[in-house]
Amino acid sequence: MTLYVPCDSAALAVGADAVAQALQARAQADRVDLHLIRNGSRGLFWLEPLVEVVGPHGRVAFGPVAPEDVADLWPALLAEGAEGAANPSVAHPLCHGVTAAMPYLARQERLTFARIGVTDPLSLEDYAAHGGWVGLKAAVTQAPEAIVQAVLDAGLRGRGGAAFPAGIKWKTVAAASCTPGGVKYVVCNADEGDSGTFADRMVMEGDPYMLIEGMAIAALAVGAERGYIYVRSEYPHAVATLNEALRRAQAAGWIGADVAGSGRRFELAVRMGAGSYVCGEETAMLESLEGKRGVVRAKPPLPAIHGLFGQPTVINNVLTLAAVPLILARGAAFYRDFGMGRSRGTLPFQLAGNIRHGGLVEKAFGLSLRELLFDFGGGSATGRPIKAVQVGGPLGAYVPAEQWDVPLDYEAYTAIGAVLGHGGVVVHDDSMDMAALARYAMAFCAVESCGKCTPCRIGSTRGVEVIDRIRLLRDRPAERDAQVELLRDLCDTMLHGSLCAMGGMTPYPVLSALNHYPADFAADLGQNP
Ligand code: NAI
Ligand code: SF4
Repeated sequence: MTLYVPCDSAALAVGADAVAQALQARAQADRVDLHLIRNGSRGLFWLEPLVEVVGPHGRVAFGPVAPEDVADLWPALLAEGAEGAANPSVAHPLCHGVTAAMPYLARQERLTFARIGVTDPLSLEDYAAHGGWVGLKAAVTQAPEAIVQAVLDAGLRGRGGAAFPAGIKWKTVAAASCTPGGVKYVVCNADEGDSGTFADRMVMEGDPYMLIEGMAIAALAVGAERGYIYVRSEYPHAVATLNEALRRAQAAGWIGADVAGSGRRFELAVRMGAGSYVCGEETAMLESLEGKRGVVRAKPPLPAIHGLFGQPTVINNVLTLAAVPLILARGAAFYRDFGMGRSRGTLPFQLAGNIRHGGLVEKAFGLSLRELLFDFGGGSATGRPIKAVQVGGPLGAYVPAEQWDVPLDYEAYTAIGAVLGHGGVVVHDDSMDMAALARYAMAFCAVESCGKCTPCRIGSTRGVEVIDRIRLLRDRPAERDAQVELLRDLCDTMLHGSLCAMGGMTPYPVLSALNHYPADFAADLGQNP
């Protein structure tokens, strides 16, 4: 019998290792020949640990499974895994039928996440059997300009949040020159610090070779010889998986002295951050990689021209680089056919917060937040009405119900004063005090500010104080309104005067809370995060 039990952090956090051990012990006791594979997560987090058994109709899913469920589950697993098994009857209360047919998965358009949860993350054979290395093999046969052109034609934009066209960035690096003795770099920004986001982590833990392949293709395109994956320290499993994947990929000749037989060198290594949110800002990350304190650098010069150790550097998010192998393997037009307007391809959305069915939903740009919240998310976890949804991380705006039909597209969101960011979606029900959340945004900025510029360093602390005064003056409207004006003025200064997105975007959650939920600033909802 072949079983899959995820080794993704989200599954481990709810006991996947104990479930795997219980299954192994049972197989041993019953003398059943068990082939237990530790896969990535399918991204249906409310069902983790999700155990799958391979049967004649495909993989059949059971979850959430606790170690104490194993005794009862065992006969069902044997029955579904048996050669002559009937079409899954979903007779067992934890059975969800054939995994791929589950509506949450069947309705998605999984391009980047096609292999995640399906394969054994560290198996080179599994990776190759599921379309791995095809993009890199194609890239090796092409001129660097042709690789850059494919990424440009695919319309791939930076998935870290800024949505800058990846092909233009690569073109800038390709055209830039190193200083004598220097080499160009490809740096993967895996400092996934946005609240409610986990897509980068799932890629690194669930399909690390895809990221390695994307970075090797980027290196061939721009002429880089070295690369780093900068991973936040809170992701120890991702770091361990990546290190082992790098060792195996190097031994197999996919990276290193001779990338896939191209005669070109690309040495790749993992570096760990130390827990600073602002090190996700690209120039602070470069400082950190160079062994210095993570303080933001003024731009220009752009990292594409003067980046790591002063050399031309491609910096892309995990999801951007992970999309590249498919573009090279299937062609730019295939990828470009997904999406709408200037937002091409897919975005792995991450549903989190107060939501019934939280998890990973990869869809082409253009679906609505309402579809995400209700068709996939199943409404709030508490069963109460959803009040506000923060899209794009802690620096993203709160999106109210009247805007939930706006298509999830970079330009459409900009038009309503919001951002898609890295695709994080954090849900709050009607018990949430939006003034308390606005205060939290300022407090977060005050804690995480690198301190380099005044609007952010001082402004965030003043912002907390002003919001506290607004809440104290709830019963004195004239004085309260004067403080609200002061808060708007402060937000304006931070928006236009900050050096980077940390101070420059903190006003997004604050102003959206103020604009869409003014009543929360005039009533005492008794919350003080
Ligand atoms: P940005 O707009 O300044 O730059 C975007 C990227 O394009 C940068 O890599 C920049 O160097 C590059 N670039 C700009 N012009 C270029 C040119 N002419 N040639 C080559 N490259 C060029 O945005 P920034 O400050 O890098 O990122 C802000 C975004 O980061 C926000 O929108 C926010 O959503 C996101 N963010 C993401 C987080 C996460 O955990 N993924 C955390 C915090 C913020
Ligand atoms: Fe540093 Fe904040 Fe200024 Fe960014 S906005 S450079 S984090 S002080």
